[in-house]
Amino acid sequence: MKALKMTRYGDIDSSLEFQSAEVPTPKAGEVLLRVHAASINPVDNMMLRGELKSVRKEVFPVGIGRDVSGEVVAVGNNVAGYSVGDLVFSRVGEDHVGTIAEYLTVSVSHLAAKPKNLSHSEAAGIPLVGLTSYQSLIKVAGLKSGEKVLIHAGSGGVGSMAIQLAKSVGAYVVTTTSSANVEWVKALGADLVIDYKKDDYRQLLSDMDVVFDTLGGQYALDAFQVLKTGGRVVSVKGALDPQTAKELGLGWLLRKLVALKSRKLMKAAKGKSALYRMVIMEANGEQLNELGDLYQQKILSPVIDKVYPLEQGKDALSYLASGRAKGKVIVSMNDPISNK
Ligand SMILES: NC(=O)c1ccc[n+]([C@@H]2O[C@H](COP(=O)([O-])OP(=O)(O)OC[C@H]3O[C@@H](n4cnc5c(N)ncnc54)[C@H](OP(=O)(O)O)[C@@H]3O)[C@@H](O)[C@H]2O)c1
Repeated sequence: MKALKMTRYGDIDSSLEFQSAEVPTPKAGEVLLRVHAASINPVDNMMLRGELKSVRKEVFPVGIGRDVSGEVVAVGNNVAGYSVGDLVFSRVGEDHVGTIAEYLTVSVSHLAAKPKNLSHSEAAGIPLVGLTSYQSLIKVAGLKSGEKVLIHAGSGGVGSMAIQLAKSVGAYVVTTTSSANVEWVKALGADLVIDYKKDDYRQLLSDMDVVFDTLGGQYALDAFQVLKTGGRVVSVKGALDPQTAKELGLGWLLRKLVALKSRKLMKAAKGKSALYRMVIMEANGEQLNELGDLYQQKILSPVIDKVYPLEQGKDALSYLASGRAKGKVIVSMNDPISNK
């Protein structure tokens, strides 16, 4: 089978190549998928640049891509609930990374039934950003109906999903984007869109219940300027916080480092009696099934920017790396490609 493989750390041109590989055999608790579509995420480019070295040890060549939609073609031992012919989607576990390939094994604990009303390309764009938004807004921030939430970068893969999820629980959604995307983001359901090229959101907002920071750096710290007392800031890009470090099981020395790096954020949070948490999303088939139901009920809609054929998988990674994607970037293996 054909698979896009990373041969060393570096850039897209020098470190990625298509290789022939053996079709893998599913182990106990796994299924083999014939991949129809995959989506890529900034974490894939981070892995390529070697930015995940401290948490992942690569044995090259290694596959790339974490989101997939496809068909079960073989089943390992001890697999209940899935059989050959099932159409499924997944954010695969870190030990199965490599969705830009014709076949892939996936742990059943990370699988969910593909929403019937979506194409594979549409479904492949959901898992990582969907689980990130769900775990950040619903599980950690506990966003509720009637609350005001600021979601940064509403036009990105995460933002375009988070806007819809926040609206689905009845929140009032404010988001930031550049001039060209204002109307497009409004159409996703945002109640107020702030054009960051023209306006400073810090001057326009106050008393937000929740800020969802997808940009990191100063954005995480500035979130407290617009937050109400007792509010919640959840970041997927800011500094790791001590509680998350503890839950991740980091050792004493690393936890000291985390405490040092997050001290300004934790001080700002304390000053507002607020919560600050950094979320590192986790693959989770059960939560993905819940999200799949929301797509089936048409409460959420897929947001695709571009679909690339498998042979142009490297171009897909380059496009995402530009930082200008509007929604999700997809690589299709067997799905009809329709770029509107
Ligand atoms: N911790 C985790 O588990 C986790 C999970 C998922 C993602 N993440 C991180 O979250 C970030 C977002 O991911 P993504 O998939 O949404 O990325 P993405 O799709 O590449 O985001 C691109 C979007 O960001 C917008 N943007 C860039 N700068 C902006 C700014 N200053 N203000 C407002 N919008 C801005 C762009 O809009 P314009 O073109 O209009 O500027 C573009 O639409 C990434 O850094 C990723 O690594 C972390």
